Amino acid sequence: MKKYLVVVGISAVAFASDWDLTAPTGLKFGLIKGYENWHVVATHYRTDKNELRYIIGNDKAVEAYRRGAKKFPEGAILVKIGYSLRKNPDFSASVEPAVIQRVEFMIKDSKRFKDTAGWGFARFVKDQKTGKYKVFGKSPKDYMQCFACHQSVSRKDFVFTDYVKRK
Ligand code: HEC
Repeated sequence: MKKYLVVVGISAVAFASDWDLTAPTGLKFGLIKGYENWHVVATHYRTDKNELRYIIGNDKAVEAYRRGAKKFPEGAILVKIGYSLRKNPDFSASVEPAVIQRVEFMIKDSKRFKDTAGWGFARFVKDQKTGKYKVFGKSPKDYMQCFACHQSVSRKDFVFTDYVKRK
């Protein structure tokens, strides 16, 4: 019983420290705490990287999608989770998400992120050996590539993903 308690204690600490990670853009991982319960906006499959992506949004982002808004409101957050793939062990013609490789997000905060059209970016890469996350990049400059690529969809408020219809 004692041993069991110790193990639980350690894993809880590791989990908490992930949330404290802060990207060089000043955004904490903990900002998206609870994202596993947010809405799925769409899935994407990146053919060159063989990676499955889930795009999920908080309430503000999803409400904006549903009303067909041209711009996302302040506080809207979109998260992208990248998974490696494996064959479904029970049905080999089917593939399924294997492990999380990366979690990244963008948040609309126009006052804070004036240089990047109001969007702040953050990426956390999962270390497969330890199961813990690491911050991507060392300085805010490393994040200019996020905005540079997302600029190609400036007409959609810098968001690539469209909301996938459910019916
Ligand atoms: C070379 C282009 C490119 C770069 C660089 C890039 N992205 Fe993206 N991003 C995309 C594409 C394309 C999508 C659409 C989903 C997909 O296909 O993976 C996307 C989707 C996203 C989404 C979901 C919302 C949306 O726009 O669809 C987030 C959040 C995101 N990226 C964050 C980041 C962050 C953080 C960085 C930098 C660390 C970054 N991106 C760098 C191309 C890029």
